[in-house]
Formats: sequence, C-alpha cells, structure tokens
Amino acid sequence: MKTNIAINGYCGRMGAAIYEDSTNFKNLKITVGCDVEEKILNKKTDGVILTSDLTSAKDLFDVVIDFTLPIPSIEAIYNCVTMNKPIVIGTTGYNNEQLNNIKEASQTIPILLAPNMSIGVNVSLSALSMIARSLKNYKVKIEEVHHKNKIDSPSGTAIKMAQVICDAQDIELGDINSNNCPITFESKREDTEIGTHEVIFQGESDSVSLTHIAKNRSIFANGAIATAIWLQTQKPGLYSYQDYIKAKS
Ligand SMILES: NC(=O)c1ccc[n+]([C@@H]2O[C@H](COP(=O)([O-])OP(=O)(O)OC[C@H]3O[C@@H](n4cnc5c(N)ncnc54)[C@H](O)[C@@H]3O)[C@@H](O)[C@H]2O)c1
Repeated sequence: MKTNIAINGYCGRMGAAIYEDSTNFKNLKITVGCDVEEKILNKKTDGVILTSDLTSAKDLFDVVIDFTLPIPSIEAIYNCVTMNKPIVIGTTGYNNEQLNNIKEASQTIPILLAPNMSIGVNVSLSALSMIARSLKNYKVKIEEVHHKNKIDSPSGTAIKMAQVICDAQDIELGDINSNNCPITFESKREDTEIGTHEVIFQGESDSVSLTHIAKNRSIFANGAIATAIWLQTQKPGLYSYQDYIKAKS
C-alpha cells in the first residue's frame, strides 16, 4: 500500500527531520507541507505542495503527521475529523481540556498520540513500569534536558514517564506543580540539546536510574512515519506508541 503524508509544521525542526527521513521508506511520499503562511512563502517545494490550509489539499494525502503547538494541532485534528483522515500527533504540552478534545475526536478518526516517538523511550516505559512495581518506597525524580526553544516544561515525555510509574504503583499523579505530587521533576534548557531524560528511583540504601539520550531527531521522525503507515489501516480510536509496538510484535 502506498502512503501519502501531509506534515503539519512542515517548516519546523521535526517537519524537516520527517521530510529527510521519508526518503528511507519505500511506498511513502511527503506530498503536502502545511505551515503558517509567512514560512511557506519562501520555502523551496521539492515537489511537496505547500499550504497553510490542510483542507485545501485533502485529496493529496492519506495521513497527517503533526508537530506544531497545541492550538494549531487541535485545529488540524478538527480538520482531520472533517476530512475523515487519520492523524499522528507528536506535539506536546496539551492541557486537560485539549486532551479531552483529542479523545472526543478519536471517536470519529484514528489518532495516535505519542509525546515521544523514539523506540528507545517507548521500550523504556515498560522497564519503568516493572521497576516502579517493585520499588514502591523509593522517591522518584525525573530530570529532563532539552534545547532552549522547547516551550513546554516538564516535557511531555517526562509527564508520560511519571504517569506510567504512578499507574504501576496504583497512585494518582495529580497536579504535577503541587507539593503533593508523588514525583519530582527537574527541567533544564540548553542550547542544542535534543532530549535527555533520566528517571531516578532513590532509596535509603541504594538508587536505580534509567536514562534515555536522543542523539538526533531522526529517531523521532522514524517513529512518526512508521506509526503513520500503521495508523492508515486502523479503525477510529485513540492509540499510543505502545499500541503500535504491541500490534507489530
Ligand atoms: N513526540 C516526539 O517524539 C517529539 C519530538 C520532538 C518534538 N516534539 C514536539 O513537537 C512539537 C514541535 O517541535 P519542533 O521542535 O519541530 O518545533 P518547531 O518550533 O521547530 O516547529 C513547529 C512548526 O509548527 C509551525 N506552526 C505553528 N502554527 C502552525 C499552524 N497554525 N499551522 C501549521 N504549522 C504551524 C511553526 O511555524 C513551526 O514551523 C513540540 O510540541 C515538541 O515538544 C515531540
């Protein structure tokens, strides 16, 4: 099966990485690049149709991959509902209301939401769940470092890791900014750091830590494209990267 993809956020860091990585996939083409008007005006096209309105190019793609910001991303999801197209979402930083909007839209179209598209982090989530079940009395701290232009903090990946740990221990994560939050977060923003996460389980007599270091963005791009190909044939619903891994194993 051939897959034509529209990238929402085409001119961004992840948009560029996905375009670059797409050349490694057979039967796949980036056909549409969507971004704000001022960015697409002077952009070279390379055969990609550029637009600031996804719906204007709806016959040219099968799946949307979104790496933008929460508000434009929700707008893209609503457009996908109207166009009846699946959408893979890599954007992070949603509030609860926006997450509810995504859940609601997934009753109509297939949506895959993954705050981290790297296979390494997603496999680490299963390991974290296992460690958390056994180390219930340990204090947990999640440290993350990203580039200085990253807007949301803590990262979507750090929050996902915390949620997985709380689920494994059958406790509520609650408000991550509250002093009562069972998990401590530390976020650093440095010049060019792509993304490092370290989870530390601190006990009285020992500590266990798990670290993931992203060396470049192609690991996220690859995950986004692979899940988009898979999502194209799924029924409406809200999927995670773990659902994709399970289906493929
Ligand atoms: N899930 C993952 O694995 C993963 C990996 C890296 C980044 N991210 C997340 O992806 C998002 C994007 O990251 P980035 O580093 O590529 O950011 P970026 O700022 O480099 O790119 C975002 C792009 O979205 C565009 N945009 C803004 N409004 C738009 C609109 N209305 N329509 C279309 N495009 C619009 C911007 O012009 C920009 O080109 C962030 O939320 C980041 O946290 C997720």
